[in-house]
Amino acid sequence: MVGGAEKWVMMVTAQTPTNIAVIKYWGKRDESLILPVNDSISVTLDPDHLCTTTTVAVSPSFDRDRMWLNGKEISLSGGRYQNCLREIRSRASDVEDEENGIKIPKKDWEKLHLHIASYNNFPTAAGLASSAAGFACLVFSLAKLMNVKEDQSKLSAIARQGSGSACRSLYGGFVKWIKGRDEDGRDSLAVQLADEKHWDDLLIIIAVVSSRQKETSSTTGMCETVETSLLLKHRAKEIVPKRILQMEEAIKNRDFTSFAQLACADSNQFHAVCLDTSPPIFYMNDTSHRIISIAEKWNRSEGTPQVAYTFDAGPNAVLIARDRKAATLLLQRLLFYFPPSSATDLDSYVLGDKSILKDAG
Ligand code: DP6
Repeated sequence: MVGGAEKWVMMVTAQTPTNIAVIKYWGKRDESLILPVNDSISVTLDPDHLCTTTTVAVSPSFDRDRMWLNGKEISLSGGRYQNCLREIRSRASDVEDEENGIKIPKKDWEKLHLHIASYNNFPTAAGLASSAAGFACLVFSLAKLMNVKEDQSKLSAIARQGSGSACRSLYGGFVKWIKGRDEDGRDSLAVQLADEKHWDDLLIIIAVVSSRQKETSSTTGMCETVETSLLLKHRAKEIVPKRILQMEEAIKNRDFTSFAQLACADSNQFHAVCLDTSPPIFYMNDTSHRIISIAEKWNRSEGTPQVAYTFDAGPNAVLIARDRKAATLLLQRLLFYFPPSSATDLDSYVLGDKSILKDAG
């Protein structure tokens, strides 16, 4: 029972990794429901390195919903938070904690308040998809706290309303966000294409070119692109549907050559679409371009691709190596072109697997 005099707090903590799109989402057909103009495919990173940890707590002594991000209180008044909270609350079930004698009947979730504390172990809003991990983790932990009995796909459609790319972080491995057709967005959700064990040769290295907050947020940027870019229309209608099928095939067959060609081409087209926006949006910088040249030259000299690159809404490079040997060689190349002692260019490397650094000596 929830009684006014009772002093209890019930908490759940969850951890969710971020995901990196290899076929990009860029452009919405519905701004408030966050419905995309095309399908997208991503790979979810390993939770040790780039993830959000969120604790959600409920107590009769809380007088309003509050949230802290990296220790600083933020406002929950925005539509995106409110949409996620409303959707989760409306699906809550009875909760019983026998050990502590706490019972929360379904109907009480509407009046009980929440405290939410969320931490990212990587730079927020620097093009490393922090909102993806953040909203996925928020929805997942709230669903656990409130005993929501929906499957991951249904939860992904709720996380989508926080940030589009968040829907893909509800699963590990390779994930597709299906754009859906319904006007209410019920069928715009994520499905897992393959789990994290399916292609575990791949190693991801993130070269942090800058950990500064980006100038144009993804949300603003893609809105301007939808309004002004003709290239986006062509991309969404003609290019992406074919690429999605080819990428699904490449993942199924662990065909790195096709995977790399598609991922690099899609990243480059996404940035071309940004350039086709008025006013143009520049997310990559000279260092990003140098990294592309290094990867392209190396792939060409080897005859078969050793590395795929992809850049989100920021200058940081996500490099996907075909195997451990390629990752080691890649890291050696990066260290050669961007020596840690040079006071320039690269801030740091975030590794998809700690042992690469050791291997590289
Ligand atoms: C370039 O999901 O951050 O990372 O839906 O407005 O919150 P909102 O945008 P967001 O956009 C991510 C764009 C991207 C590509 C991708 O992740 O597919």
